[in-house]
Amino acid sequence: MTPLLVNIAAVCSLLAMPLVLTSVASAPAASDSNVMDLLMPGVSPKQEDTYLCTAVKLDKNRYIRAFNPQHQSGHAHHIILTACKEPGSATEKVWNCGEMLTKSEGAAGDKTYKQAPQCASDTRIIYAYAMDAPALQLPDGVTFGVGPGFDLPWLVVQVHYKKASDFVKNPSLKDNSGVKMTYQTTPSPKLGGVHISLTDGVIPAHSVTHMETSCSYDGQTTLHPFAFRTHTHSHGRVVSGYRVRDGHWSLIGSANPQMPQMFYPVNGSGVIRPGDMLAAKCVMENTGDKDVSIGATQKDEMCNFYMMYWIRADDVGKDGSRMCYTSGELWDLAPSSVMAASATVPGTERVFREMNREMDRMDRMMKQMLLNGERAASGIDMPGFEDEANEFYADQPEDFIEF
Ligand SMILES: *[C@@H]1O[C@H](CO)[C@@H](O)[C@H](O)[C@H]1NC(C)=O
Repeated sequence: MTPLLVNIAAVCSLLAMPLVLTSVASAPAASDSNVMDLLMPGVSPKQEDTYLCTAVKLDKNRYIRAFNPQHQSGHAHHIILTACKEPGSATEKVWNCGEMLTKSEGAAGDKTYKQAPQCASDTRIIYAYAMDAPALQLPDGVTFGVGPGFDLPWLVVQVHYKKASDFVKNPSLKDNSGVKMTYQTTPSPKLGGVHISLTDGVIPAHSVTHMETSCSYDGQTTLHPFAFRTHTHSHGRVVSGYRVRDGHWSLIGSANPQMPQMFYPVNGSGVIRPGDMLAAKCVMENTGDKDVSIGATQKDEMCNFYMMYWIRADDVGKDGSRMCYTSGELWDLAPSSVMAASATVPGTERVFREMNREMDRMDRMMKQMLLNGERAASGIDMPGFEDEANEFYADQPEDFIEF
């Protein structure tokens, strides 16, 4: 199929499967159903891999219950919606929000737009769309609460324009991609959230490396996971997330990160309670001659596992830190069945066994210590989410992008 046909098919399937749920039980009064758009105001990116952001400030709380991506003629390669305390730019209508950490090499994308991050503080990803990705259905009664009452008054949408040739050929062409949201003004019984697990580390040349993280869940309410999303660059082979309770590992989600990096329904059905642990792993394969580190540029890697969940609305704020970033000791205790499953690309027989696990681990720890030392010395933060916006779905050339 030509890209145009693919795109039309994606639009049609979205029309056929609206995200709005029809259950009578929890549907709010028809009068409390509103639509708001957050769309690019007619942009014309002239460079490939341009990431543009536009924002809206909310003066009242909104409870978003459906996301409907808007994209024209296949220009938008991916769309990411975040809520934030402060946007990357409160003055520009549109800004270039790509590749913030590659200053030394010059920022990617169209430089006629001012460069700024997607959010300046408190970035919360609430929705992501990539071409051809299936629609994500929020469970009954779940909304994402945004607005001043949540200390998240801004919504920022990022659109990745992978190709610019149409805009270069036709200077009058303007794009209005973005997200249409259906929301209610009354609170819903359940609130959605996103938890992120991420690692640091190095993937040595010619190696298969398991990048791992594990944390105790530090919230005070039950999390009900319903969707997950994986994110790596080109070296990721399989990414998985588990709940660990009393030594028993249950799968939350596992996927091949070379598939569209959308939120997919969870594979397992368990909930996360105080006292549980969360563990995530990325199996990375580096067939090249150079070591590859976790970092924020196109040449670096990332290992991220996103878990979308709901909590009871009464428990707002009790869902803990929403982030896990450790060296993943719990994985040393993983049963062999979990080691095998987490190294197998879903739907295939392909198993990536770490060679010389102990040696690799020592090596990684040494490199990580050096890396952390350098970072501390140069004042650079750990690879953050602020950037998570930046690349997601780009096809995977040898050297790639980030967040
Ligand atoms: C989990 O779900 C994803 C997305 O639907 C799917 O690609 C993957 O194969 C599933 N994993 C397992 C282990 O079943």
